[in-house]
Amino acid sequence: MKQLQVKTSSSEYPIYIGEDCLSVLAPFLQQATQTIVVTDQTVYDLHYQKLSHVLPENTITYIITPGESSKSFDCYHQIQTFLIESQVDRQACLLAFGGGVVGDLAGFVAATYMRGIDFIQIPTTLLAHDSAIGGKVAINHELGKNLIGAFYPPKAVVYDLRFLRTLSEKEWRCGLAEMVKHGFIANPSLLRQLLQIQSLDALLDETFAQLLIQSLMVKMEIVQMDEFEQGCRAYLNFGHTFGHAIELDEKELSHGEAVAIGILFSLYLSEHIFGIDLAIGQYLTYLKRLHFPLPFNVDHAKRYLGYMMHDKKNQRKQVRFVLLNQLAKPELVSFSIAGLETLLKQFLSEFTTKEERVCH
Ligand SMILES: NC(=O)c1ccc[n+]([C@@H]2O[C@H](COP(=O)([O-])OP(=O)(O)OC[C@H]3O[C@@H](n4cnc5c(N)ncnc54)[C@H](O)[C@@H]3O)[C@@H](O)[C@H]2O)c1
Ligand SMILES: [Zn+2]
Repeated sequence: MKQLQVKTSSSEYPIYIGEDCLSVLAPFLQQATQTIVVTDQTVYDLHYQKLSHVLPENTITYIITPGESSKSFDCYHQIQTFLIESQVDRQACLLAFGGGVVGDLAGFVAATYMRGIDFIQIPTTLLAHDSAIGGKVAINHELGKNLIGAFYPPKAVVYDLRFLRTLSEKEWRCGLAEMVKHGFIANPSLLRQLLQIQSLDALLDETFAQLLIQSLMVKMEIVQMDEFEQGCRAYLNFGHTFGHAIELDEKELSHGEAVAIGILFSLYLSEHIFGIDLAIGQYLTYLKRLHFPLPFNVDHAKRYLGYMMHDKKNQRKQVRFVLLNQLAKPELVSFSIAGLETLLKQFLSEFTTKEERVCH
């Protein structure tokens, strides 16, 4: 087991990562008057038993429906009602046991129940190595994702890698996209090793665990420098401007699969703006080798543009992108709508015609 320590201006908490490391929860739970587990049905069925060994007797558990639709006011309200009816007090500890959806939702419940109770992130997906660190918690509004939330750091993050064994290929791809993102913006050696992955089978070995720790450290270091997203934390949005547009347009894609396409476009823009070579071809080969879906279409250019114009990062009718002026050197660049439209259409037609077999 490895332990890392996140230290920001407002908080400090440990991250435990390794196989079979749930026993580190015991001292945290002993201090609490009560333990509440929030999880989803899939995680409950697959892994609750492993967790149950360390839970105190008076633990209560709330199970949500898996999926993004549970990050809702409705579900948030139901969990709050459950806590009030169970007479949970302010010295209780809430365990967010699941992927990013459970982490974001249960974290926001913990942030607001009686003005805040302790919570611990127990991530169970690959993507959640990213979402469980940094203290951003949120639910969705029908007008946009993650619009209602808080910065509320957990007391600890406990990442037991045994949980990852049951992930679907889609979930592996989803998490890999965020790892590759961390490689591009901050760690070329991590990037090189990730781009060499030949298949998703049997990924969870010792070497991969090392890559996961490196990726986690990129997130951790950025959060430590800029906890409240006043500066460099925005670089974590690399690939997300176009990624969010694709995610909204193609409902079948997971967040990470959409981000993987967003990264492709960010590399294209970076090469164009800074006149550098970021080996796009190599990245595209990697995506195809691991069967990332690439469903972008030149006919949807206007729609993508519409989505990007509503991005949270935008200022004064310009669309802001995180680009790379070289590998691991991110920079924010603004585009006028007209300028972006030209480059987007150029990108889409170039990659759609070349890649007819995969881009339908
Ligand atoms: N707070 C942040 O900083 C941050 C960062 C990135 C993403 N996010 C959020 O994270 C969410 C996406 O996270 P996610 O991809 O983990 O989604 P998720 O929590 O919906 O999990 C994806 C699916 O995998 C299942 N699952 C979870 N663990 C499993 C396991 N061990 N084995 C088998 N199946 C398992 C879940 O039941 C679900 O169906 C989004 O809502 C996104 O907004 C937050
Ligand atoms: Zn993301």
